[in-house]
Amino acid sequence: MPNKPRHIILGISGGIAAYKSLSLIRLLQKNGAEVRVVATPNALQFVTPLSLQTLSCNAVYTDPFKILEHVEVEHVALADWGDALVVAPATADVVGKFANGIADDALTTLFLAFNKPVVLAPAMNHKMLQHPAVVENLQTLSARGCHVLGTGEGYLACGTNGSGRMLEPEQICDTLFRILALSQDLSGRRALVTAGPTYEPLDPVRFIGNHSSGLMGFCLAESLARHGAQVVLVTGPTHLELQNTDIQRIDVMAAQQMLAACEDHFPQCDIAIMSAAVADYTPQEVASQKIKKQSDTLTLTLKKNPDILSTLGHRKTDRQCVVGFALETENELENARLKLQNKNADIIVLNSLNHSGAGFKTPTNQVTIIDKKGHVTNGNLKDKREVAEDIVSYLVDYMSDTK
Ligand code: C5P
Repeated sequence: MPNKPRHIILGISGGIAAYKSLSLIRLLQKNGAEVRVVATPNALQFVTPLSLQTLSCNAVYTDPFKILEHVEVEHVALADWGDALVVAPATADVVGKFANGIADDALTTLFLAFNKPVVLAPAMNHKMLQHPAVVENLQTLSARGCHVLGTGEGYLACGTNGSGRMLEPEQICDTLFRILALSQDLSGRRALVTAGPTYEPLDPVRFIGNHSSGLMGFCLAESLARHGAQVVLVTGPTHLELQNTDIQRIDVMAAQQMLAACEDHFPQCDIAIMSAAVADYTPQEVASQKIKKQSDTLTLTLKKNPDILSTLGHRKTDRQCVVGFALETENELENARLKLQNKNADIIVLNSLNHSGAGFKTPTNQVTIIDKKGHVTNGNLKDKREVAEDIVSYLVDYMSDTK
C-alpha cells in the first residue's frame, strides 16, 4: 500500500466493460488512490458522467473544447497531476488512436501529453482482438513502454465465448500498483548508458565500424527510465529512436567522443551500463582528404582505443555501480569473470554467440549475469526489451544489497 495517495487517471473508452470501471474506481480508492476520470464520448453511452463524478469525487474530463473556469490547459494539467494512467476498457478504437498519435477527444489528447506509466486493459470481441491491425497497434504501444494487460476468456457481450473480456477490476488494480512500485525503485538515481557501434574515421568519407544495432542499450535506457531513473544515453550511429522523451540522448561517432561524453556525465551518475560495441582500435592517422586508390594493397596502422568501461570502473566510488557486457565465443564464464576483475565492474552481462538468436542484429538475446559477489544467473532467450528489464531488476536488487 502506498504511503501518500497515488494520483490515478482512469481513462474509460466506449465498450460494455465500462460498467466494471465503476467498481475499479472504488477499488483504486480503497488502495489509497485519488482517482480522476477521463471518458470518451462513446464511454458516456455506457456509463453516466454523474456516476463517474459521484464515485471519483472529482469532475469528469470529457470535452477538451469546453470553456474552462480556470486558465490551465486541462489535459496538460491533468497529465502533470497523474502518477499513472490506466485505460479500462481500452477498445480497439482507442488503442488504434493511441498507437497512431490521433488526438481527437479528451482521452486521446491526454495520452499524448502523458509521460508516466500507462496501463491498458483491452476489451473487445475476440475476432477484433485477433485482427492484425489491433495486434500490431497493441505491439506498437507495448514497444513504446505501455503496459498492455491480457484479456480474460469467457462469455462476451456479443453472445459468444472467447478471449477479449476485460480483466477483472481486482487484477487491473493489483497490476497497476505493482507497476507503480516498480516505477519508483530507481527514482532519484541517475544512470548513464552507452549503446550502438562506434565509427572510427579513416578519412572524411570512410570509417571502421561494426554491426551493433544499439537495440540492447536503447532497451536498457528505456527500462531504467521506467524504473524512475534519470537517464543519459550516449549512442554511436544508429537509426533507433527513443520512445521516452525524458531520456537525454547524446549522439557520438568514435570511441574518443563516447569516452568524452561518458566522462562528462559519469561523476553525477549512480549507475553506468556500458553496452556499446566500442571499436578496440582506431586508425592512427585520419587522412584529411579521401584516400586515393593506388597500389594493390593498403596498410592501415591502428592504435588502441581507450576502454570506456575500464576507465569508469577504475574511477567509480562506492556509491556507483558499473555494468559491462561481454561477448564471448570460448571459455565464456572464465573470460567474463576476468573482465569483471580487470575492468573493475560490479556486474558483467555475458552474451554468448553460441546461442542462436543472441547478440548483434537480433531482436532477442540470451544472457548470463555475473556479479562481483560471485552470483551467476542464467537467463532464457527473450526479447531484448525483456532482457533489459531483467538486467535492470537485477541491478535494483544488487544495489539494495538483496543480491
Ligand atoms: O573488452 P571487451 O570489448 O570484450 O569488453 C566489452 C565491454 O567493455 C562492453 O561493456 C563494452 O561496452 C565495453 N568497452 C568499452 N570500451 C572499449 C571496449 C569495450 O567501454 N574500448
